[in-house]
Formats: sequence, structure tokens, C-alpha cells
Amino acid sequence: MKIAKSLLLGVLATAAMGLSSMERMPSSAAGTTVGGTTSTTATMIAQHPGKILAGNCFQCHGTNGKNGPWDSLAGKSASEIYAELKDLQTKTTGDEAIMGVHARSYTDEQLRQIADFFSKVR
Ligand code: HEC
Repeated sequence: MKIAKSLLLGVLATAAMGLSSMERMPSSAAGTTVGGTTSTTATMIAQHPGKILAGNCFQCHGTNGKNGPWDSLAGKSASEIYAELKDLQTKTTGDEAIMGVHARSYTDEQLRQIADFFSKVR
């Protein structure tokens, strides 16, 4: 019973997060701006191929790289984010070790897609 209850709470919390992030999102993705609250995989890929990969970062860096517990990534330049990720790949201790694990999990091409995605979020 306890498990069922905490699962339900988790689902509700996730739904609430979805709603609050919707309020912050622009209603349309115009030009090179990406973001939004689309839930279908095909549309996400059409919006930006890096969006699905970047979803792994939302928990800590905020939905679309904004307003998370750690540094915002949205709107930073793609080359800066990519360079930081390459540097973080070498980290194995302290807070940066969290990022070491993440950064080492992607190919260079994927890191570039993720960096490009965050650079285009407004
Ligand atoms: C479990 C939490 C967590 C996840 C998931 C996570 N990060 Fe991080 N990230 C951190 C922490 C913690 C730091 C800060 C390390 C520090 O400042 O010492 C950080 C730092 C960074 C930095 C450096 C920012 C700066 O201003 O120095 C970048 C870039 C970054 N993360 C990108 C990403 C990307 C891209 C992803 C997804 C592939 C990701 N992170 C997923 C926790 C996370």
C-alpha cells in the first residue's frame, strides 16, 4: 500500500511539474528557437534532434535547461557547453563526478546535438 501511495504521489508530482513548466514555455517554437512541452517523440525529434538526449539533463538543469537546481544551460553558446562537457568527461571526484558520468555516456556527435539544443532554447 505504501508503495502504491508513493507511486501515485510521484505521478502527481510529475504532472504538476509538467503543468508549471508549460506556463514558462513560449506557445510556439519560431525560427531557430526550440523548447515547448511536446510529448510525442516524432515531434520532439522534428523540433530538434538533441531534445530527447537533453531530456536526461532536465532533472538537474531544469526543463529545457532552465530553472533547475543546478546551472542553467539554456541560451549558453553551443561551443561553450560542448567544451564544458568535454572537460567534465575527465572528472571523477566531487560534484563534477556526477557530470563526468553523464558526459562520458554520449558520443561527440550526441554532445554537439545536446549543446546545440540548449543553445537554442529561449
Ligand atoms: C544528477 C544531476 C545532473 C544531471 C542529470 C546532469 N547534470 Fe550537469 N551538472 C550537475 C552538477 C552537480 C554540476 C555542477 C558541477 C560543479 O559545479 O562542480 C553540473 C554542471 C554542468 C555543466 C557545467 C556548467 C557550468 O556552468 O559550469 C554543464 C555544461 C552540464 N552540467 C551539462 C549537462 C548536460 C548536457 C546534461 C545531460 C546530458 C547534464 N548536465 C546532466 C548535475 C547534473
